[in-house]
Amino acid sequence: MLKIGVLVSGGGSNLQSLIDSIKEGYISGEITVVISDRRDAYGIERAKKAGIASAVFDRNSMGCEELNASILRLLKKHDVELVVLAGYLSILSGEIIEKYRNMIINIHPSLIPSFCGPGFYGIKVHRAVLEYGVKVSGCTVHFVDCGTDTGPIIFQKAVEVMEGDTPEVLQKRILEHEHRLLPEAVRLICSGNVKVCGRMVSITGRD
Ligand code: GRF
Repeated sequence: MLKIGVLVSGGGSNLQSLIDSIKEGYISGEITVVISDRRDAYGIERAKKAGIASAVFDRNSMGCEELNASILRLLKKHDVELVVLAGYLSILSGEIIEKYRNMIINIHPSLIPSFCGPGFYGIKVHRAVLEYGVKVSGCTVHFVDCGTDTGPIIFQKAVEVMEGDTPEVLQKRILEHEHRLLPEAVRLICSGNVKVCGRMVSITGRD
């Protein structure tokens, strides 16, 4: 069973989808620690409710290097093998990226390489999608490298933009798909069905 560490900054609904999927036996892995960079992240409450070890390293009270070093220390302490960024907003850098090469994944609420990169997070992504007028958006699960939203793509799900959508309505529609896509990616990584070669990711055993 792969040991998983989940990093959150907010509500943690994606974390919840992982907790539920593990409980249902869909993923054969174990979340050994949940870490937040914000004190008020509800994801930490979700971890506590599920009996999972958790910690907060407040990004407002420490520098980026210290934040990353503290996270790495805790991931090692909990023997984490796979790191899942589930709505984590700080930048991971340095040793974490090297140690967990191709073992850190992120979920982003658009079809990368559109509407991603620095400044594209949360509701801003959906606002930009509607302002541009694209007819299709979606979500992407990808490996994390030293750039922002630039790593090899694992899965993407296209979601239609509907007439009259507000950013909030679109966000909610896409989030429902995120809650299926992220657990599926974690399931397949845990079962050794995901192989990376350069930018190419090959996958077997999809649902
Ligand atoms: C999701 O839309 C995810 O794609 C993005 O941040 C949001 C986190 O939502 N990276 P939640 O905290 O999992 O509810």
